[in-house]
Amino acid sequence: MKTIAVIGAGTMGNGIAHVFAQNGFQVNLIEISQESLDKGLATITKNLDRMIAKEVISEKDKETTLGNVTTYIDLGKGVSKTYLVVEAATENLEIKLGIFKELDQLCDSGTILATNTSSISITQIASVTGRPDKVIGMHFMNPVPIMKLVEIIRGYSTSDDVTNTIMELSSQLGKTPTEVNDYPGFVANRILMPMINEAIETLYNGVAGVQEIDTVMKLGMAHPMGPLQLADFIGLDVCLSILKVMYDGFKNQKYAPCPLLVNMVMAGKLGVKSGEGFYDYSESRKAEKVADQFS
Ligand SMILES: NC(=O)c1ccc[n+]([C@@H]2O[C@H](COP(=O)([O-])OP(=O)(O)OC[C@H]3O[C@@H](n4cnc5c(N)ncnc54)[C@H](O)[C@@H]3O)[C@@H](O)[C@H]2O)c1
Repeated sequence: MKTIAVIGAGTMGNGIAHVFAQNGFQVNLIEISQESLDKGLATITKNLDRMIAKEVISEKDKETTLGNVTTYIDLGKGVSKTYLVVEAATENLEIKLGIFKELDQLCDSGTILATNTSSISITQIASVTGRPDKVIGMHFMNPVPIMKLVEIIRGYSTSDDVTNTIMELSSQLGKTPTEVNDYPGFVANRILMPMINEAIETLYNGVAGVQEIDTVMKLGMAHPMGPLQLADFIGLDVCLSILKVMYDGFKNQKYAPCPLLVNMVMAGKLGVKSGEGFYDYSESRKAEKVADQFS
């Protein structure tokens, strides 16, 4: 039970690996390139250093946590003899279906296959495997080491046993698991994304500027971040993918992505990860300041 695999070392994958490793699990972190693995490990190290600076953990805890992470580019070797695989690769249906088809062939028959998808149907992902009862959504929130919620999504065929195991495991990580059913956007993004999209629409319509929209929501609604800053933090490409899944799934105009969001993603303005979104993050300190708001 102590060895798990995490697929993807991007915004979410490195955080998920960090949390499992800090809680004593052996983590096999899998990526498509050494460069992505190095970047993911550098982020884990930086986040552990910030925890040391805040006296939340010791230098020894940092070494132990990093020692619990092993990196792989070969998927087969990375998932071998693991009890659980948490997939946190790019939010793209074809990529996820491809990964789950491979996982079903490569993993032991008892291995639980979880996905951190923000919106893609767990039932559809499970349908490409021969073990739909062992496929489940394990939706961590960003930044993973800080945020308490894990939205646990049951696919149509997910078993009670697997759901209970993943609920218990999430509690062991110090998180609060919350069980929901498998419909587009689940609960978190079904409510969050229309708000972010409306904030972008408000900017697009010239009702107010970026700072003004975020100030209204921060000071008026006591949100820790304004919706435009939050969109930058999540990744504008991720926001667009989620809205498209909800738009396709419900065929309801209210989920149609704002044209400004579509244009920004096409222009490569993805938020913090690309250095520019609604705000400018070209100096690394600015990006760190955004993350600091959560810690
Ligand atoms: N960004 C958020 O705030 C957030 C929050 C909750 C859930 N999610 C979900 O988490 C998942 C990952 O999102 P992210 O924001 O970390 O994306 P990201 O773009 O930061 O990272 C994705 C990583 O996956 C890697 N990858 C792609 N294909 C792969 C493969 N076949 N094998 C191994 N690695 C592969 C990429 O190289 C990249 O490093 C998505 O499903 C997303 O919807 C994101």
